[in-house]
Amino acid sequence: MRIFSGIQPTGRKHLGNYIGAIRQYVEGQDRGDPAIYSIVDLHATSVDYDPGALPSYVYDTTAMLLAAGLEPDRCILFRQSDVQEHTELCWLLCSVTAHGDLNRMHQFKDKSTQQRELISAGLFLYPVLMAADVLAYRAHEVPVGDDQRQHVELMRDIAERFNAAYGEVLVVPEHRIPAVGARIMDLQDPTRKMSTTASEERGLIFVDDDEEAIVKKLRSAVTDSGSEVRRGEDKPGITNMIDILAAVRAVGADEIEREFCDLRYGDFKVAVAEAVAGYLAPVRERYGQLRPDEAALEATLREGAERARAIASDTMVDVRVAMGIGAPRPT
Ligand code: TRP
Repeated sequence: MRIFSGIQPTGRKHLGNYIGAIRQYVEGQDRGDPAIYSIVDLHATSVDYDPGALPSYVYDTTAMLLAAGLEPDRCILFRQSDVQEHTELCWLLCSVTAHGDLNRMHQFKDKSTQQRELISAGLFLYPVLMAADVLAYRAHEVPVGDDQRQHVELMRDIAERFNAAYGEVLVVPEHRIPAVGARIMDLQDPTRKMSTTASEERGLIFVDDDEEAIVKKLRSAVTDSGSEVRRGEDKPGITNMIDILAAVRAVGADEIEREFCDLRYGDFKVAVAEAVAGYLAPVRERYGQLRPDEAALEATLREGAERARAIASDTMVDVRVAMGIGAPRPT
């Protein structure tokens, strides 16, 4: 089973990223043959970004993934722009991508309304580059958050259309979406997902937050009317905290409800804060050790890129021949 996923080099990762994606990456190392993870700096250029800061964001994300438990000898971890096959395949896949499909992508619509200056063609092509990421490795499984469902559907269409047009060269991948991570919500507005585009930091728990910050954020988290610790549509705040505690402890939400049904909101929040802080503490500590050594991070990425390139360049030979690109293969 070949696994591929990409992660954006945004500065700080939050609890939703951790439970929804990063944890799946770590588990994937046992099943992946291999598990391949890319820090997608090329995707980061599709919206306004700071070129001076991007390299350090890549290191932040690399160190975070290693701190979470990725081991370079059990997976391939690399920086997307180090493997030029991604950009080449992106262009070639454009020939089997429907313009109308790209126009219908939710993320394109959402992000284009957020851009004040320029809605770049890169933002429009973002899903094609993402398809190239996965298809270059002929990966079978794509662990992603729920918000990426439509993009994986599109890459399946692209792979099918490619194979129909040029011959069976690409693997049609499947998504793998965790049940729990999709439901980690903002602490200040529990009707929306925890996300770095949220307006206030108070609503997010960052993986590198210390215990004090975590306790403070959970204490001031929005709760609901009523006083019982139970899930319900009328109780998005408490439901979110129950889901968070269930995810952190790796138990079912009903188990949490049973255990905490006699507690008041305030005491329940403290219990959740302590559990989350204890859960993240070892990751934060390892991150603190790994992040300063940029030479070591760079060496890890470089080695990952070599291994990634070996796989992607094989695929590209087949793609080029199938499409009639470049000099014909010698007979
Ligand atoms: N678009 C993904 C996200 O924002 C990141 C990504 C880029 C990705 N390329 C990928 C995810 C390939 C899975 C596979 O989360």
